[in-house]
Amino acid sequence: MKEAVKEIVCQEEDLQPGEMMSATFGRHDVVVCRASDGHYYAFLDRCIHQGAELSKGKICGAPEPTDELGEYNFQREGDILRCPWHGREFDIKNNGCMLANEKLKLRNFKVVVEDGQVALTK
Ligand code: FES
Repeated sequence: MKEAVKEIVCQEEDLQPGEMMSATFGRHDVVVCRASDGHYYAFLDRCIHQGAELSKGKICGAPEPTDELGEYNFQREGDILRCPWHGREFDIKNNGCMLANEKLKLRNFKVVVEDGQVALTK
């Protein structure tokens, strides 16, 4: 039986909630994100629009409409990954789905946290 590939990408304390970093996993450039709930997520570090490095973007929140026409609340701070080139936004905690079109999503990788180390596996 083939053993699962697992690579340590950082230490738990390297990222605080709402932060991200670039890393490599095998031959892939990845962006490792720590969402507002403290959980880690990892995605291919290439925007599905035109290939920008997402790790050079921003982790932020997203505006959500209110009952008042033209009024928005800024919510989900720390859970949205915004591309640096054209601003497409991806939901970190929902498999990297694009906010504007949930049928489109980033390639994601499985993250395991053991003994203070954050690793990717497949
Ligand atoms: S390359 Fe990411 S939004 Fe265009």
